[in-house]
Amino acid sequence: MCGIVGYIGNKNCVPIILEGLKRLEYRGYDSAGIATINSVSTDVVKCEGKVSALEAMLNLNKLDAPLGIGHTRWATHGAPNEINAHPHFNENKDLFMIHNGIIENYQVLKTKLKKQGYNFASETDTEVLVLLIDSFMKKNLSLFDSVRYALNEVEGAYGIAVISKKEPDKIIAARKGSPLVIGIGENENFISSDVSALIQHTKRVVYLDDNEICELTKDNFFVKNISDESIKKEIENVTLELDELSKGGYPHFMLKEIMEQPDSITNAMRGRLLFKEGSTKLGGLQGYEDRLANSKRIIISACGTSWHAALVGEYMIEQFAQIPVEVEYASEFRYRSPIIYSDDTILFISQSGETADTLAAMKEAKRKGALVLGICNVVGSSIARESEAGVYIHAGPEIGVASTKAFTSQLMVLAQITLLIARKKSMSFVDGKKVLTELEALPGKIKKILEMNSEIEKIAEHFVDAKNFLYLGRGYNFPVALEGALKLKEISYIHAEGYPAAEMKHGPIALIDENMPAVFIAPHDSIYDKVISNIQEVRARKGRIIAIATENDYDIDGLVDYCIKIPHTLEILMPILTVIPLQLLAYHIAVKKGLNVDQPRNLAKSVTVE
Ligand code: F6R
Repeated sequence: MCGIVGYIGNKNCVPIILEGLKRLEYRGYDSAGIATINSVSTDVVKCEGKVSALEAMLNLNKLDAPLGIGHTRWATHGAPNEINAHPHFNENKDLFMIHNGIIENYQVLKTKLKKQGYNFASETDTEVLVLLIDSFMKKNLSLFDSVRYALNEVEGAYGIAVISKKEPDKIIAARKGSPLVIGIGENENFISSDVSALIQHTKRVVYLDDNEICELTKDNFFVKNISDESIKKEIENVTLELDELSKGGYPHFMLKEIMEQPDSITNAMRGRLLFKEGSTKLGGLQGYEDRLANSKRIIISACGTSWHAALVGEYMIEQFAQIPVEVEYASEFRYRSPIIYSDDTILFISQSGETADTLAAMKEAKRKGALVLGICNVVGSSIARESEAGVYIHAGPEIGVASTKAFTSQLMVLAQITLLIARKKSMSFVDGKKVLTELEALPGKIKKILEMNSEIEKIAEHFVDAKNFLYLGRGYNFPVALEGALKLKEISYIHAEGYPAAEMKHGPIALIDENMPAVFIAPHDSIYDKVISNIQEVRARKGRIIAIATENDYDIDGLVDYCIKIPHTLEILMPILTVIPLQLLAYHIAVKKGLNVDQPRNLAKSVTVE
C-alpha cells in the first residue's frame, strides 16, 4: 500500500522520482504527489489519480531540484483527492512528508495540535504527523530530532520520508511496520518503500527495521533507533534485474505472471529435490528439520491468496506428514489470544512479506515461544527477516495486484516441506520418489495448460455479463475453488463465491438457475465420483457449468456446458494445475469487461495496513 520514493544528489530528482513511482504504482494508485526543494524554492504538486496524471502536471510545472520525495497513495483516511494526496506539509510550505501506514492515535494528536493553533487542510492522519514534527521544529530542534520526538508520540504503523527547506541537504526516513529501504549510490542516495524503485540506480541497499530513523545526505547516512541510540546497518546487494519488472511484451503483468508459471515453479524447486533420498532439501530450514518434523501441531497463518495456499498445505501435511494442522487468518490470529505450545510450529505465508496482519501475527507467535517459520517471495522483506527460519518461493517479482504465480510457487514449497517431514516419518522412499518425479513433471504440464489460453478466452466470452459465479471443489480442490472465486471477484468485480462442492446443497443451491454459472474443479481423483454427483445436482437445476477436468475424462463431457481438460498428476499436486485455467478465465473475463486487471479498483499489492 502506498509507494514512497525519495532522492538526494546532484541530478534533477523529478524524473527519478516519477520513474520510481511508476514502478511502485501497483502498491496504490488513487492519487499521487511530489515535493521538491532547491536553492530558490520549495514546490509541491499533487493530484487525484495515477502517476501519469501527476506526470502531465509536472510537465507543465517544469520542476528541477536535487532533493525531493514522491508518493503514490492507497487511501486509508480521507477520500482519494488532491488535498488528501501526499506529500503533506506545514503552513509555511517548508516541511514535507510522505507516509505509508496508519497513525492510530491521530485524533488525540490532532486535538492537541489544534490547541496549539494548528489548522488542518486534509482528512488524513499523515497531516497530523507532519504538523507534529513542525511543532518540534518550532522549538529549534533539528529535523532529525523533531521527527524522533514526534514519532515517540505516535501509535500505529509508518514508513515516512521527510524533507525541510531549513535543512535542504537531507532526507529523514523512519519505519515502524511499513517497509523502507535506502539505496546507496555515488554522490546520490535514495529512499523507497520497495527495492524495485531503486535497482535502476543502485543494487546496494540498506533495509530499515522497525523503530529506526535514518538521516540520508547525498553521500552519507546514519541510523539511530527511536531512543537515539546509534545502529550499525549492513549494506546488502540485491539481485533483482530491471527486465524482471517489465511486461515483457504481454498486455498485462497478470498475464505475463500467469504465463511465467512453468519457470517460476521450476525456480521454486531448483536444487531442492533429493532423488537419492526420495526427499527434499530446503536450505532455509537447515537445522530446523527435526524440530519441524517433531511438532505436535502446525499452524499455518496468512491472508488472501496465501491463506488459500495454507489450506492446501493443511491437506498435504495432514495426509502425508501426519501432523495436525490448523489454518488461521492472520488478522484473526493476532487478536484472539491463540493457545500456542512450545512444540507447535507456526508457518506464515506471504508473497510480499509485508502484509501487516501477517507480520503482527508472526510477532505474536514469536512472543508465545513456538517455532516461527516463513514462506515468502520478496527477499529481505519484513516477514522473511522476522522468521526464525524459512523458505523463499523464488517466484520473481509479482506486480499484477491479483496473485497468480506466487500461489503455485507457495504450493510447490508446501509440497516440498510436506515431503521433507513425511520422509522423516512413515512415507516410503518409493512414494517420496514418486512425488519428486511428479514435481519435476509439473512445468511441462503447466505449459500444456497455458497452450489452452485461447480456448479459455473463448469460454470467457460467454460469461462477461454474469452477475454471480459459484466455484465448487472438494478435498485438495476446495481451496482452489476459493482461489478461483477470489481471482474473479477482485479483477472483474463479478460477485463470486467458492464452496466445498458438497456444502452447496446446504444453502447455495438455492441460487442455482439458468443464469448462475458454476465452475466445478473435477479432476480424476479419489473424490471424483462425489463431485460428479454435485455436478448433476446443479445440472438438474439448469445451472451453466464450466468444468476443470483431467484429459481422457470423456464421461464428464455430456454433463457440462464447457470443459477445460488438463493433464493428470498426483492428487496432492493437482491444485498447482487446476488453478491455472481459473486464473486465465478470470483474466479474460476482466479484460473483456474493459477493466484494468493489473490495478483493480480499491485494491493494492502488499497490504501494509490493518
Ligand atoms: C489476491 C491477493 C491478496 C493477497 C493478500 C496477502 O490476489 O493478492 O489476497 O494474497 O493480500 O498478501 P501476501 O501474500 O503478500 O501476504
